[in-house]
Amino acid sequence: MKFIVGNWKMNGTISDMENMTQAISEIETENKVILCPPFTLLYCKNNGVTIGAQNISEHENGAYTGDISGQMIIDAGAKYVLVGHSERRLYHNETNEIVKSKASMAIKHNLIPIICVGETLDERKSGKTEYVIKTMLEQSLPGDGEFMIAYEPRWAIGTGLTPTIPEIESVHKLLFEYLKNRKNTPILYGGSVKPDNAQTIANVPHVDGLLVGGASLKPETFLPIIKSVK
Ligand code: PGA
Repeated sequence: MKFIVGNWKMNGTISDMENMTQAISEIETENKVILCPPFTLLYCKNNGVTIGAQNISEHENGAYTGDISGQMIIDAGAKYVLVGHSERRLYHNETNEIVKSKASMAIKHNLIPIICVGETLDERKSGKTEYVIKTMLEQSLPGDGEFMIAYEPRWAIGTGLTPTIPEIESVHKLLFEYLKNRKNTPILYGGSVKPDNAQTIANVPHVDGLLVGGASLKPETFLPIIKSVK
């Protein structure tokens, strides 16, 4: 069983959500599928598919216009939440410290945070990948509670570029070693996962699942990914 997480980002309508969850519910798979649509779709009919949010406020509740709390997310029926996605870090200035508070808030509300880490192309080219990933882990992981990690090299997100298999393997090994004293922390890979590379990437040692952006938007590309991963 692998985790296959779809991140819809700022895409999707009520009918897209109903169509996708219906399509997912009709296939047979041993994988655990989690769909993360925008907040507006969390409470839609989900045909039994597990739902996650894409962001969470680090605050409990109160005067934070436009923010969504952990209590609201769980109330809407979600079980997971993405935290620290590189687009949040980049466009909303989310620091490791904020990511840690958000992950802790998620755990407090019985949500499982999927905490994203990854290097830029410059960092990779200058040999800093390991250092950057370790720093992110040290500074953004909550002290305890259940969570998942997604390794998403920033330069691979939405670009069609993917790291080589040995590159993925080496970062996942590092993550596995770092997390080995914590029981069962799944480690996902994300960044330009497509139907034609999903199975190969999912078979890399210490890859427990995939975080899929663009290819999760349409059943024509998402279902083949779910089906191909064994
Ligand atoms: P992508 O996005 O699959 O479109 O590269 C992945 C992500 O941002 O989670």
